[in-house]
Amino acid sequence: MSGILAGKRILVTGVITEASIAFHAARLAQEEGAEVILTGFGRVSLVERIAKRLPKPAPVIELDVQNQEQLDGLADKVREHLGEGVDLDGVVHSIAFGPQGAFNFLEGTWEDVGTAVHVSAYSLKALTTACLPVMERGGSIVGLTFDAQFAWPKYDWMGVAKAALESTNRYLARDLGEKNVRCNLVSAGPIKSMAAKSIPGFEELADVWNHRAPIGWDLTDPEPAGRGVVALLSDWFPRTTGEIVHVDGGVHMMGA
Ligand SMILES: NC(=O)c1ccc[n+]([C@@H]2O[C@H](COP(=O)([O-])OP(=O)(O)OC[C@H]3O[C@@H](n4cnc5c(N)ncnc54)[C@H](O)[C@@H]3O)[C@@H](O)[C@H]2O)c1
Repeated sequence: MSGILAGKRILVTGVITEASIAFHAARLAQEEGAEVILTGFGRVSLVERIAKRLPKPAPVIELDVQNQEQLDGLADKVREHLGEGVDLDGVVHSIAFGPQGAFNFLEGTWEDVGTAVHVSAYSLKALTTACLPVMERGGSIVGLTFDAQFAWPKYDWMGVAKAALESTNRYLARDLGEKNVRCNLVSAGPIKSMAAKSIPGFEELADVWNHRAPIGWDLTDPEPAGRGVVALLSDWFPRTTGEIVHVDGGVHMMGA
């Protein structure tokens, strides 16, 4: 098998529909030669159904990043699929959730905010450390952010959670460098996924991209983000860590 992930074994979280960025990361990873294992949150049979639309079979392990027991058991479950002595080469964190209250900055309660930060930011550390026992030779961790440098319309406490995710990525990169683990994020432009649909006023936020992306942006195409993830999983960013690669049509650098 050829491709930039030939022979690599990748754990991909966050597949829930065919519009999931994770679905496209998994599909492209398989097309580039990787063996993929998925994790699914809650509706595992639904994730298994979506997984059947991937080019190759991919087993699904149940994982709620708020469930410590499931995190503690993750490495053993991954090992069951990989076989004794075989490690993961990469992990994709494609997980975010904010209760509706988190999308109202002045009204959001700590309960809303705490959940958003737990699921969307702390989980990057929790998932990564859960996978370390099956990454003894090192590897690549890749997460997904939405540019946290700015105060966006409607994004509110989820924007704060993304700022925490971006910081978590840097601290992970600092602490795991000695284990040869690279940690990076793709900062994606808006995509009409299930998570996006739960953001009240997503259209207003996304409309910015219709006017400001110098090389254009398609809200219905998760492939560019998926490609960015696969590139960071590959050996083609061997000395890049703690980085954020923008896959956003160029919006991040536009002044107006
Ligand atoms: N869609 C966008 O506009 C956009 C833009 C930039 C970044 N992102 C980020 O991309 C990532 C994937 O989102 P998506 O747009 O593909 O949406 P999605 O709805 O397809 O994926 C979000 C995933 O998070 C999972 N999840 C939620 N709570 C969980 C929990 N407690 N434990 C484990 N998994 C849980 C869901 O099951 C789902 O699979 C997220 O981090 C999101 O913030 C999305």
